[in-house]
Formats: sequence, structure tokens, C-alpha cells
Amino acid sequence: MEHRFDFLVIGSGIAGLTFALKVAQKATVAVVTKKDKLETSTNYAQGGIASALGPDDSFQLHIEDTLKSGDGLSRPEVVELVVRSGPERIQELASIGVPFSRGQSPNCLFDLGREGGHSRNRIVHAEDMTGQAIERVLVEAVESHPNVAIFENHLALDLIIDHQAIRAGSVTVQQRQCCWGAYVLDETSGEIHIFTAHATLLCTGGAGKVYLYTSNPDVATGDGLAMAYRAGASLANLEFVQFHPTCLYHPHAKNFLISEAVRGEGGRLIDKRGRPFMEKYHPLKDLAFRDVVARAIDTEMKRTGDDCVYLDITHRDAEFLKQRFPNIHKKCFSLGIDITKDPIPVVPAAHYMCGGIVTDLWGRTSIENLYAIGECACTGLHGANRLASNSLLEAAVFSHRAALHCLENLPRWQKRAFPRVPEVNIETSAGNGFQSEMILISHNWDVIRRLMWNYVGIVRTDKRLHLASLHIAQVRMEIREHLPHIPLHPDLVELQNLALVAELIVRCAITRKESRGLHYNVDHPQKDDLHWRKDTVLTRWKEPA
Ligand code: SIN
Repeated sequence: MEHRFDFLVIGSGIAGLTFALKVAQKATVAVVTKKDKLETSTNYAQGGIASALGPDDSFQLHIEDTLKSGDGLSRPEVVELVVRSGPERIQELASIGVPFSRGQSPNCLFDLGREGGHSRNRIVHAEDMTGQAIERVLVEAVESHPNVAIFENHLALDLIIDHQAIRAGSVTVQQRQCCWGAYVLDETSGEIHIFTAHATLLCTGGAGKVYLYTSNPDVATGDGLAMAYRAGASLANLEFVQFHPTCLYHPHAKNFLISEAVRGEGGRLIDKRGRPFMEKYHPLKDLAFRDVVARAIDTEMKRTGDDCVYLDITHRDAEFLKQRFPNIHKKCFSLGIDITKDPIPVVPAAHYMCGGIVTDLWGRTSIENLYAIGECACTGLHGANRLASNSLLEAAVFSHRAALHCLENLPRWQKRAFPRVPEVNIETSAGNGFQSEMILISHNWDVIRRLMWNYVGIVRTDKRLHLASLHIAQVRMEIREHLPHIPLHPDLVELQNLALVAELIVRCAITRKESRGLHYNVDHPQKDDLHWRKDTVLTRWKEPA
């Protein structure tokens, strides 16, 4: 079956929904999402949106903090653009009903929190559930818009790309590629649908599930990165995987974050014996940049042999803590931890992909009419290490810009004829049903996630990266060999995507022969600005076969 819309949006987090809402004034939009529409990374974001709104703050200070965090790889023009757009985008979210926490100061409407690496209080938040508040308001607005159709439980498989080789004599000098939509698996019926559109937006989030321990929801399997790479788009800087320093350590807590805002309100990291340790690692102590804090915790855990460290905020007033962090308080309390009295057991976990699909200032990728926004994109804002709470900001700014660009170009695009798109005829396992060889899938998921955690984690070595590369190649070969004999199943699609993204992360990590930002390699412990102040870019068509 073919569905035709003006725009196809893949993913239903802040990036996809903001874009959809904006273009829906003048165009039809399909939002395709592989699970429930609320099951997105946005929905789990606790901290907030960074913006220079306080009376003691300035754009310049926010720009400087972002550049410092990016460790030489952020693009200054992107940083400037995003930071300066912040207040307007936040105001817009507030105006459609996002209930940001209000402050006491007469100079600023919002309560401004603090997080690591920020020299001022500038995190606009909705208690400790900022992402959830944004997601709910956007979903409501999009659902009530007649021009937007949301397709839940629809998993995008691959992009529909029109390839044209540009030749000089018998030599192909360039590939011109244009995106016309995507093949999408309806997980309920098992049918593969064709979605065609004038422009396609990848808003698929990150790939935290490539690691054994992550703060990300199960949907974060790098689908957009994998589809874009297979289609021939350029990807960059995948070695910069951000590990959040403080995820709740408890056998019954799955992927639960303890927001950096807790340290912003005075929380201190301590070891099992109650000794603070961050002063050994950085003058900013507990509010140092995330890469520094995560590495410090990793070092402490390895040194002491302890399973976790602790985050202690018990010195703050109990009523204040319950009001400021209702979600964290409730979750911890349900597991027998009273954050007003007990230090919280925490460990680092994979949290955010700083690299991604390379885009320009309008969110355009290297493939015509294909855009990428949010965590799956590499705009140049984050460089080698994202500054806390700059990600919702980036998504809000770039979805706005992509919408402007798309609306401007739509009349021209509407004059072009759609190509004929062939149906695909492959056997699928309808309705998420059982199939005989699920063990091949679950085993290889586990292999990859463990391997990435152990060999491609917070601290890396050449040898471990090399071994990771060999093991991943083996898994990819197994998938390729068995694939034609197994009906297509959503878990298999995600496994394929995860395995590919794991391979790409390792390739970027092997390429970068230095330590910078989130990429720390014991065999190349210094930053090498002379040779490596540049992105690690991967493009399938430009690589040797
Ligand atoms: C947090 O609340 O600590 C997460 C914020 C972020 O990742 O930007």
C-alpha cells in the first residue's frame, strides 16, 4: 500500500512533533513511530532546556560554555545560532502550554536550574520531568491537527532513494541522491507500506541501546543513523558517546536517570565510605563537564572495586527536594531509597550520541530532501561533548529552521513528479508474533551490547577497539547469512541497525588517534589539535569497497 503526504516525519519526540506542527499549517504530514507515540527519549528527559535568560547571564557566556564543553569540535556559527534562538523557542513552547516551573525572581519568568559545565543558572525545566511535559503538550497539539496523521507501531525499514550517477565518460564522478520517503513495516499487520513524501525528516533519536547500560528507552536503537548510512548520507563523530554520570543503580531500576540538576542543587558524589572525590579530578568538582565526571566515577569504581558510587543531597530541606524532584523522589522511594535521608546509589550509563547524520544550518543532510533533526543529527553544536540540556534546545531550534526551509521549498517540490516506487516482497512475522529463531536475535543483541560496554566504553584502548571491530564483523556476518531465511521481525530490524551503528562507532573511535571530549583512549591520552581538530566522517559511497 502506498501513502502519500507532503512530509514524512520518522520519530515522535520533540524534533519530529515540533516540525510536524509547524508545517501542518500549509501541508500534510505523516508521523511514523515504531511504538506508542509517547515512547521517545524526549519523554524521559529530566533536566530541561538551557538558555541564557537569567539577569546575570548572557548569550556570550552560554556560547563560551558550549564551546568549552565541545572541546574544540563545536562549530562556532552553529553554537551562536542555537544559543541566540533559545529564548524565542522556549517562549514558543511555553505559549502552547508547556508548564515550565516558574521562578521567584522579578527579572525572569522561569525557575533556572544549574547543571554541569554551565557557568550560570540557565536550565528552564518543568520540575524534574521537562521532557514529559513537552512531549504531552506537543502530542496533544499534533493529534488535534487535521493535517497530521500519526502512525504508531510502524517501524521505518529503509529510505526510498532515487540514485543518479553523474558520469564523466565512463567514470562515475558523483552520486546524486534524492529521498522520496521510506519503506515502513506495520508491526500489527506485518505489511510493508510505502510512504512517499516531498521531504523526509529523520527524528529517530539516539542509539543508547547499543550499550548494555543506558539511560535511554528501548526504542533508542539507532534506526535513523543506520538508514541514513545505508542510503549514502554522511555521518560524523560517532565516537563521542556521552555517558551520563548518574543513573540509578538498583536491580529493579531500568534506565532511570538521576538528573544532573540534583548536583546543580548541591548534590555531592561520595564513595561507599562517605568521602567526596570530585575535587581530585576538576576544580568545578561535582559540576564539572560530563565527560570528566563520568570518567572520575569510572576511575573510582575501578580503584575501589565498588559496584557504584553515591549521590548525596540529604543536606537540603526535605520539602524542597520533594517539590523540586518529585519524579526522582517517587521512583527512589518506591525502591526503598529516601533521597531526603539516604545517599542515592549511582553509576554512569550511555546517554547521548553527540555525533550523527551530518546536517547544515537548515537540518539538511547530504541527500536531497532528507533532513535529520535532534539526537540523530550532527549539526556541529555538541562537538566532542554535549553541554547538559543543550539537546532539547537544539531539537527545538533545528525543527523550527527545517520547517521554515521546507515550507519555502514546498511549492517548487510539488511541481515534481514522484518516481514509481517498487513494492518489496519479503516475508514478515506479522503482529510481533513468535518466530522460530528468536534466539539468533536475542543472543546477538546481548553480544553487541556487552561488547560495546566492555570494549568501547568510557575508557578505551587500541586493542579493545580492534577486538570490538572483529567481534562486530562476526555478528554482522551471522546476521547477513541468516537474514534471508528468517521472516522479517522488528527485533531483527533493530538488531541489524544496532550492529551497523556499533560498527560505525568503533570505526570512528579507531580512526581518532587522540583523546578529546568523550573519546578517551589510553594509548593516545593527549589531545592532538594539530592533526585531529576535525570530524571523523563516514559516507558509504565514498568508502573503499
Ligand atoms: C539530566 O537531567 O541530567 C539530563 C539532561 C541532559 O542530558 O541534557
